[in-house]
Amino acid sequence: MSNLETYLAAQNAQPAVADIITTITKVGIQISDLLKRGALADILGEAGNQNVQGEEQKKLDVIANDLLLDALSSNPHCAGVASEELDNATPANQDGDVLVLFDPLDGSSNIDINMAVGTIFSILPYNNQGHPATDEDFLQKGTAQLASGYILYGTSTVMSITLGNGVAMFSLDPDTKAFVQIKDQVQISADTKEYAINASNYRYWLPPMQRYIDEFTAGKTGVRGKDFNMRWVAAMVGDIHRILCRGGIFSYPFDTKHPDKPGKLRLMYEANPMSLLIEQAGGMSTDAVNRILDIEPTSIHQRVPVVLGAKNEVEYVKKLHEEV
Ligand code: AHG
Ligand code: MN
Ligand code: MN
Repeated sequence: MSNLETYLAAQNAQPAVADIITTITKVGIQISDLLKRGALADILGEAGNQNVQGEEQKKLDVIANDLLLDALSSNPHCAGVASEELDNATPANQDGDVLVLFDPLDGSSNIDINMAVGTIFSILPYNNQGHPATDEDFLQKGTAQLASGYILYGTSTVMSITLGNGVAMFSLDPDTKAFVQIKDQVQISADTKEYAINASNYRYWLPPMQRYIDEFTAGKTGVRGKDFNMRWVAAMVGDIHRILCRGGIFSYPFDTKHPDKPGKLRLMYEANPMSLLIEQAGGMSTDAVNRILDIEPTSIHQRVPVVLGAKNEVEYVKKLHEEV
């Protein structure tokens, strides 16, 4: 089977995009190795500080962030990076072609319990060569992404990427350290019987989202006339990977739990890169009504409600929200 380098060459990937993805995979291998050693590598537990979003950082959030920041800053194609864990964008080579955004460690609450976590990345063009990159340079719509992807550190380490021409999946060979292609042109079915949502937030949701989930839990006895199954990994990377493998719908919807936050997930580091993958696999991704990739960002750390996956389900959620 072919490996990542062969795939990137066959896609005629821009040299900058191919090189940045290669750099990210090298860091992914380091993170994967650290996770395999777990407590023995002293990577579990709290870092003892908060990030810019007021979230407690785990040791591995900081380690993964620093590894990515160092590796990408020394890649000549990289004009700057923005991370969930950093207050502001960090400029790199001002003559670089691309900007890189990442959630270095997604699913932080899973680190200490030996469950799946991941890394999410998004690559944008750099349009301000000759000047050091600032936060404003990153404020581009999701449709501008040149590529996006994630690495999932699960029972094996797998990566899904898109360069805007479908979604390909790779598995890390632990012996040769090569990412070997396992799937091409991944497709998500338009219908599903599986949904992913943190139902403990039910009382904070808007009525259309409550109605949607009520219809699922009513199963055969309700208007949907069939039973549904629920899964929640607590790491978006895990839930998206499952949807790419066997379909489904995922939501972290608008809620009133934290009135200052319209949703939990971050537009630039989570929603946009995952939405590009989902759309490239034939799925749909919205904030319940509007297409995520069309959202004009106003801040690098902004949050957004997310409803994505099986097309017919995401359309139905949109209809329920538009009816009220
Ligand atoms: P992160 O660890 O990068 O902060 O992201 C966690 C996110 C997302 O991956 C996951 O879907 C969601 O938070 C889980 O939230 P709950 O703990 O509220 O279920
Ligand atoms: Mn995350
Ligand atoms: Mn994170």
